[in-house]
Amino acid sequence: MNRREALNWARRALFAQLNEDASLEGEILLKHVLKIDRTALFSSPDEDMTQAQLNELDKLIARRLEGEPSAYITGHKEFYGLDFVVDKRVLIPRPETEILVENAVSLTRSYKFTYIADIGTGCGCIAVSLSVKLIGACVYAVDVSRDAITVAKQNAARHGVKWINFLYGDLLQPLHEPVDIIVANLPYVKKSDLPVNGFEPVTALDGGEDGLDIIRKLIRQAPAKLNPYGCLLLEIGLGQAEAVELLLQKEYPSAKIQLFPDLAGIPRAAVMRLT
Ligand SMILES: C[S@@+](CC[C@H](N)C(=O)[O-])C[C@H]1O[C@@H](n2cnc3c(N)ncnc32)[C@H](O)[C@@H]1O
Repeated sequence: MNRREALNWARRALFAQLNEDASLEGEILLKHVLKIDRTALFSSPDEDMTQAQLNELDKLIARRLEGEPSAYITGHKEFYGLDFVVDKRVLIPRPETEILVENAVSLTRSYKFTYIADIGTGCGCIAVSLSVKLIGACVYAVDVSRDAITVAKQNAARHGVKWINFLYGDLLQPLHEPVDIIVANLPYVKKSDLPVNGFEPVTALDGGEDGLDIIRKLIRQAPAKLNPYGCLLLEIGLGQAEAVELLLQKEYPSAKIQLFPDLAGIPRAAVMRLT
């Protein structure tokens, strides 16, 4: 079987469960087995697969069909144009989280030398992306999971970012000084909506009964850890915009609050700016 045939086989095998995603995911698994990029794959489609490669592809397809995300199978996920290593110790970065990064980058224009805290850093995708983009900013990355911090440090090293301060602990408690920007993609899934036998860590998803337990706690803690004219950027889930806006208004009555939608028009980021 050559590479083209193997790709078609993988896509067909995945189609029953993944529908339109089967095409892309079949390609991702085949590139991983062959350890080549897209250009190499499509420039030599007639090259024969070895039996060992076919066996490996077969195993990866079986794992994917059992529900394991491709990013855990390959150990990589692209975020904000950078490649991040991921495994089951951390949440897989999502494209909508780039909305937080974009907003944080544009808000830094208001400060001379920006102090930023990424709360719930996970694999470090937000802290590392900001550090790569904003040379000279002081970035803290906090997580309550030591495993997540280990992965985040690995990603910082991978992208040559040596100046992130990694802190272990609960929300803003480990921060010793106030910052200009707090950016947080914290768990916001309702307990009743948590996936059964999911692959991603529950500590990265579980937001309590209404999904807002951890976000609520962060909003209450933030006044003590934000500089004057500081900003708080939160990723939010479907249907949480109104509740989060109210929580922010209550804690910061004179602040400017804005919501930012994802590509489907759903508000996915809340940005509070002290005036
Ligand atoms: C939804 S994941 C986000 C990970 C990463 N920032 C991203 O955007 O992909 C939430 C992260 O928050 C961490 N976390 C949960 N509760 C926390 C808390 N009380 N304090 C600090 N981090 C917490 C979890 O361990 C997890 O890594």
